[in-house]
Amino acid sequence: MFEVLPELTADPILGLMTDFKNDTDPRKVDLGAGVYKNENSHTPIMNAVAKAQNIWLSREDSKVYSAPAGSPGFNEAIIELALGKQHPAISEQRVVNVQTPGGCGALRVAASMLKRCGQNSKVWVSTPTWANHIPLLTSAGLELVEYSYYNGQQHILDFDGMMSDLAHVNAGDIVLLHACCHNPSGADLNPEQWRALAELLNNKGAIPYIDMAYLGLGDGIDEDAYGVRYLAEHCPELVVAMSCSKNFGLYRERVGSIMVVAADAKAAQICKSQLLNVAREIYSMPPSYGAALVDIILNDAALKHNWNDELIHMRERINSLRAQFRESLKRSGAGDRFDYIVNEKGMFSFLGLTAEQVQTLKQDHHIYMVDSSRINIAGLSTNNMAYTVESVMSVL
Ligand code: LMR
Repeated sequence: MFEVLPELTADPILGLMTDFKNDTDPRKVDLGAGVYKNENSHTPIMNAVAKAQNIWLSREDSKVYSAPAGSPGFNEAIIELALGKQHPAISEQRVVNVQTPGGCGALRVAASMLKRCGQNSKVWVSTPTWANHIPLLTSAGLELVEYSYYNGQQHILDFDGMMSDLAHVNAGDIVLLHACCHNPSGADLNPEQWRALAELLNNKGAIPYIDMAYLGLGDGIDEDAYGVRYLAEHCPELVVAMSCSKNFGLYRERVGSIMVVAADAKAAQICKSQLLNVAREIYSMPPSYGAALVDIILNDAALKHNWNDELIHMRERINSLRAQFRESLKRSGAGDRFDYIVNEKGMFSFLGLTAEQVQTLKQDHHIYMVDSSRINIAGLSTNNMAYTVESVMSVL
C-alpha cells in the first residue's frame, strides 16, 4: 500500500540544518533556521534555564500524566508575560490558555478551533509569511488569502497595501499577524499602525490571530508586546500563539502556549474546552519538561531577572550584528543597498537575492540561507562576517 506515497523533499527551513551539518567545509556559515547563536556559532543553554533544570531535577518526583492544559504556573505566567500584569482582559476573566508543544502546536490547535467555528471563514496571511504557517493552517482545513505586507524592492513595510487588502475582509474572517520580529522580513508595525489595524478589524468584525514567537528579541518585551496588548484590550476576540523556543532557547523541548481572549468569561471557558478537545485529538497533552523550566524561571524573581538580562544581551548582540553587517557591506562597495537591515527587527532580514544567487552561495561558498534569501542575522559572527560579506558581494 505504501508504494502510492511519493517521497517528499525536506522542509525548506529544517532541511537546511541537515545540509549544513553534512557540509565538511571549514568556512561554512549557517544563516538558515531561526536559532540564536553566540560568537562561537553555538546555541547555548541560557544560564537561567540551566539553573531551572537543577531546581526541577530536585523537585520532580513522578512521571505520571500532567494536566491536559499543562502546568498552571506556566499558563498563568505566560499570559502575564504576553499581556502584562494589569491587563483588563485578565481581570475580566476573558483570557484562557493551554500549554502546547511549541509555537507550531499552538498555531495548529488554534487553527482547528477556528475551523470548528464553521463560518467558512478565510484566514488572511501576510505576503510573505513564515513558510510553515501555510501547512499548519491548511491542514486544519482553513482556506488562506494573502494580504500585502512587505515591499521587497524598497525593503519597507507596505502598510498602505496591507490596509487596502484587509479592507476586503469579511465578518468572521481571521487575520494572521506577527506580534514582532516579522518572519521572514523583520519589518514590524509601529504602535500607530497597530491602532489603525485594530480599528479596521473591529469595523469589519474580523478576528486577529497573532503569532508571538520572538517576544523580547525586537525592541524589548513591553515594546514587542504592544500590538498583542492593544488588540487584547480593543478587540472583542483574539487568538495568540506563543513560543518559548527562541526567547528561552528551549527549541527542542517544544514549549508554547495558545491563548484566547473571548468576549466574556463564559465564552473564554468554552474556548478552553475546545482547545483541550483539539489537543486530545492530536497529541493528548503537551510535554512537561520545557514548560516546567519556564514556570520556575518566571515565578522566581531572581531567575526571571537573570533570564531577562540574557534576553537583553541576545537582542543587543543581534542588533549589533545588523549594524556590523551593514557597515561591512558598505565598505565592500555595496553602497546604501543594505541600509534597511538596521531598521528591521529580530532574527530575520531578506538579502534581496535571486534563488540562483542563494544556490551559488550555498554550493560555492558554503553559506546557507532560505531560498527566498532570508538570513538569520544571529548566525553571523566576528569570525564569519568578512567571509560572508565577501561571498555576498561576489554574487551581486
Ligand atoms: C525559522 O523560521 O527558521 C524557525 O521558526 C524555525 C522553523 O521551525 O522554521
